Amino acid sequence: MSSSDPQVVWHQHSVDRASRERLSGHRGCVVWFTGLSGSGKSTIANLVDRLLYERGVHTYLLDGDNIRHGLCAGANLLEPTHGADFASRFGLGFGPLDREENIRRIGAVAQLFVAASVVALTAFVSPYRRDRQRVRQWVESHGSPGDFVEVFVDTPLEVCEARDPKGLYKQARQGKIANFTGISDPYEAPENPEIHLHSGSRPATELAQIVVDQLISRGVIQP
Ligand code: ADX
Repeated sequence: MSSSDPQVVWHQHSVDRASRERLSGHRGCVVWFTGLSGSGKSTIANLVDRLLYERGVHTYLLDGDNIRHGLCAGANLLEPTHGADFASRFGLGFGPLDREENIRRIGAVAQLFVAASVVALTAFVSPYRRDRQRVRQWVESHGSPGDFVEVFVDTPLEVCEARDPKGLYKQARQGKIANFTGISDPYEAPENPEIHLHSGSRPATELAQIVVDQLISRGVIQP
């Protein structure tokens, strides 16, 4: 592993991924849920998390709203403790570059989970194809093909907007939220997701089971 900074050198640790996977009895991987706000990503990912946990699989769920409280906090959260300059430099919002950095950070963290032999479930809108593709490349280039499983939670915009669990679509329609995915910012649907959930009309429990079955058939976890 090389870095463009000669002072930063990659260290090979003595306990490698294969040893960790022998210990846990399953592979590490990233299960990357993407879809519109309100599409059901978090709900389905939570159900998958529970099903895998009950099977004894080591998992961790990285969820958009939670991660934006810490690792990817916005300027308003950072300002009180770190000051205005820091907050404006490192706080993340929803402009294209901020989303790019949001997804890059999460991708880097998710890869660490894979190295630790954990099934990392991620639930982020992640609307830009290029950002998701970069995470896939990052994860697979540090591991192997199959380590990144993209799950497209394909719920029609009308359904998400009718649900509007946080009232954000309404505000976006009124012009009160800028760059809102699906309304004033694009959502670039995956072209070849490993798992495509047509989710508007089927119960979340059924969709979660489809994901678990796919993880079994892909050899991530044991039947
Ligand atoms: S991402 O685009 O960078 O992947 P992320 O998943 O972290 O987004 O956060 C999306 C959540 O933030 C949405 O579910 C919604 O609750 C909220 N949100 C606030 N503003 C926006 C916006 N402009 N576009 C999309 N979601 C937003």
